[in-house]
Amino acid sequence: MIRCVCPGSFDPVTNGHVDVIRRAAALFEEVVVAVLVNPAKRGAFTLQERLELLRGALEGIPRVRVEVVGGGVLLVDFCRSVDAVAVVKGLRGGTDFAYELPMALMNRHLTGLETVFLAGEPRLEHVSSSLVKEVVAHGGDVSGLVPDAVLTALNARLRPPAH
Ligand code: PNS
Repeated sequence: MIRCVCPGSFDPVTNGHVDVIRRAAALFEEVVVAVLVNPAKRGAFTLQERLELLRGALEGIPRVRVEVVGGGVLLVDFCRSVDAVAVVKGLRGGTDFAYELPMALMNRHLTGLETVFLAGEPRLEHVSSSLVKEVVAHGGDVSGLVPDAVLTALNARLRPPAH
């Protein structure tokens, strides 16, 4: 089984994540979506909420499973434990590349784990979990950028009362 891991915080999952995961599933025999927990970072959504939104968003994409990676665990160790040969990440542009390259090099240094970069879908180049949260928190509309259930959850959690 040629398996890859798509890691992230998914706070919350966006259509950009779903696009990368769907494309990874077309390249690998199995995709493990790894939800990493950073105890130092309080997210907008609890781990349970993130998992529920992620599972809903990935329904219908075959050969994808979602797993939680606890705080203090290196991504390379998780990848070894699930027997994954590569990490798959989407790149929206040069800033993503500058952020991702040292991690990819470090992961390869640590265990030889490879990283495969997929060119992000241009339609979704401006979409990130942090930006959609900021837009909703200021009363803006992010429909089309996140799955419908995520839109509902974002509006319920972050939308200011006046909007
Ligand atoms: O969605 P994010 O927050 O941009 O994802 C970053 C993530 C979770 C993939 C990265 O921080 C990570 O791999 N963390 C796990 C701990 C680890 O292995 N750190 C060393 C990376 S070289």
